[in-house]
Amino acid sequence: MILVTGVSGGLGRLVLQGLSALDGVDVVAGTRGGDGSTARPIDFDDPASLAEGFAGVDVLVMISAGYAEDDVVLARHGAVADAAAAAGVRQVIYTSLAGSGERTTLALPHRWTENRLAEGPFDHTILRNGLYAELLGGLSAAAAAPAAESGIFAAALGTGRMSVVAREDLADITVRVAAEADGELTTGGRSRHAGRTYELEGVTALGGDEIADLLAKKYDRPVTYQPASLSEARAALAGQGFEAYQITHTLSLFSNMGAGFLEAKDSDLPELLAAAPRPVHDLVADAAG
Ligand SMILES: NC(=O)c1ccc[n+]([C@@H]2O[C@H](COP(=O)([O-])OP(=O)(O)OC[C@H]3O[C@@H](n4cnc5c(N)ncnc54)[C@H](OP(=O)(O)O)[C@@H]3O)[C@@H](O)[C@H]2O)c1
Repeated sequence: MILVTGVSGGLGRLVLQGLSALDGVDVVAGTRGGDGSTARPIDFDDPASLAEGFAGVDVLVMISAGYAEDDVVLARHGAVADAAAAAGVRQVIYTSLAGSGERTTLALPHRWTENRLAEGPFDHTILRNGLYAELLGGLSAAAAAPAAESGIFAAALGTGRMSVVAREDLADITVRVAAEADGELTTGGRSRHAGRTYELEGVTALGGDEIADLLAKKYDRPVTYQPASLSEARAALAGQGFEAYQITHTLSLFSNMGAGFLEAKDSDLPELLAAAPRPVHDLVADAAG
């Protein structure tokens, strides 16, 4: 049996839908708000929910729960590893962060979790997810709005580019890996995905100039990209109601993009997808707008 955590989220919902659509796959949903009938209550911050929720699970699709300070994320992901070991889960599939994000502040809890899972008695598979197209759009949104009037898109993206991916592609690969792992365990073997780490970088990279072009189409007017400084970006984020850790991560993404670190060279994405990677430009433009 496969359990997918975090099914109220964008990625978890897609993974659950994909697995549920497959014949002969036994899948159950987990979410903090689970009522025990349609979905199991699974809260990484509540170890008791994990002890009960992981009962009978062979393959655990552990959707990262990264929206918190690092100490909280480490504690909750560590609790998942402990509970999976205690429950006899045979394989944990974890949604991590792609290598292009290695120097961002987002990477630390992901790499810690990868190490923690590697110490477990179960097999593990690491899906190092690329940065979402919506993330780049979201980072651009505050600067995109005034561009409709001014024609100037002033964002702290430097001259670098970010490789981005459609969340649906990541979900499709998660479904494939989980279904294959479950099938292989059921027939008495070890999954071909055991011990593997896949770099699921987006195959398209966009920077400030490309986003300005997308905005020009959207607003039906010329738009020019103008790099803003990190201190301007920090000042713009202050007072907008973000948690402090969100500002840390956002500035880190801007900083890494400016340094040119977020453009990936290689990706396992095409090899693991049944079709070509989905286009990302509209996803970025919609999220930016
Ligand atoms: N690669 C990227 O660009 C990128 C961007 C943003 C986020 N992420 C990471 O990828 C994850 C999945 O992305 P998404 O798009 O599905 O995010 P999302 O739509 O914002 O959903 C947030 C997810 O976090 C889960 N969660 C929060 N607190 C939890 C807890 N205490 N215990 C268990 N689950 C908890 C939620 O599960 P429930 O169903 O229980 O509410 C939900 O699945 C995120 O949580 C984040 O760690 C990656």
